[in-house]
Amino acid sequence: MITEKDFVFTTITNAIEKGNFQWSAPSNIALVKYWGKKDQQIPANPSISFTLNNCKTITKLAFAKKHFDKLSVTNNRFSFDLLFEGKPKEDFKPKIQKFFERIEKYCPFLRDYHFTIDTENTFPHSSGIASSASGMAALAMNIMSLEKALSRNFGTEMTEDFFYQKASFLARLGSGSACRSVKGSVVVWGNHAEIEGSSDLFGVEFPAKIHENFKNYQDTILLVDKGEKQVSSTVGHDLMHNHPFAEQRFAQAHDNLAKIKIVLETGNLDEFIKIVESEALTLHAMMMTSLPYFILMKPNTLEIINTIWRFRNETNIPVCFTLDAGANVHILYPENVREHVLQLIKGELVGYCQNGNYICDSIGTGAIQIL
Ligand code: PMV
Repeated sequence: MITEKDFVFTTITNAIEKGNFQWSAPSNIALVKYWGKKDQQIPANPSISFTLNNCKTITKLAFAKKHFDKLSVTNNRFSFDLLFEGKPKEDFKPKIQKFFERIEKYCPFLRDYHFTIDTENTFPHSSGIASSASGMAALAMNIMSLEKALSRNFGTEMTEDFFYQKASFLARLGSGSACRSVKGSVVVWGNHAEIEGSSDLFGVEFPAKIHENFKNYQDTILLVDKGEKQVSSTVGHDLMHNHPFAEQRFAQAHDNLAKIKIVLETGNLDEFIKIVESEALTLHAMMMTSLPYFILMKPNTLEIINTIWRFRNETNIPVCFTLDAGANVHILYPENVREHVLQLIKGELVGYCQNGNYICDSIGTGAIQIL
């Protein structure tokens, strides 16, 4: 079994002077939700997600070796500039600083370089779509490209498997769900008895063959509320400590993952809908029953859910919804009903979106190297 120790970088070298890498990494949408964690972003229960295709972060990492006494205290700090859409963005820096501190043990070479991190999202910043998953995944991929280059310089060729596994491992330490954004198209994160190779430490590609029904599955994100998150996910996960329903919830996630595994193999869309919608509502039920309690859905979130239910009853079109820790609604449906669902969205659901905004996405393949 792979343990944390396998990810500690031991090659002593910093022989590469400078260079740069660039990666894009997508967002992902959980079908069975991760909600609740232990220390070091170890999930309280396993989760599974669709990797998205269009909503992504593109990050360039330029690095230059520091040239001074490594023992000097000031020079031994992490050194990086952060640009968002080409402009310095000071308020993103503490998150990156914390990320570097968390992964330093596994990537000690980070202290040897000055970095310029240049990042942008393909979706609007204020859309209410969290960029932490795609952002941390894109940064982790770049760091792994550097590690791979350093290893190669030392005469060791890193395997593809290790590269992606450690990238997911690092991304997890940045933001839990980010570890599911490295690969596509369906990723499991967290130990599960029936998923071979699953781990609490990193995400793995769904190991069985996925039914044709899910090929190019669609996710249209209805932007109901673009405001700042009412509850950060850190606070949210914490609410599962001492939560009266925590144990049942964690057990339910294991059950739902076992069920959805079969659904993904057999293509049973009715079962898919039941599991996915129940998971979304359970996530929100956990928030409503914690102390303090929160309601993150807005009136328009409920309007959308009711409209989808009515439409599904009337047409038998297998469209369903899921939610993140916010008011926006992800509408999931097979590619062959796209036109019908888009008609519903344009004709009716758009009226519940803030400024009529929604984003069309679909299932994707994971991070892509650009440079
Ligand atoms: O990765 P975090 O800590 O932002 O948590 C994400 C939690 C949910 O989006 C609500 C569920 C999930 O599994 O993605």
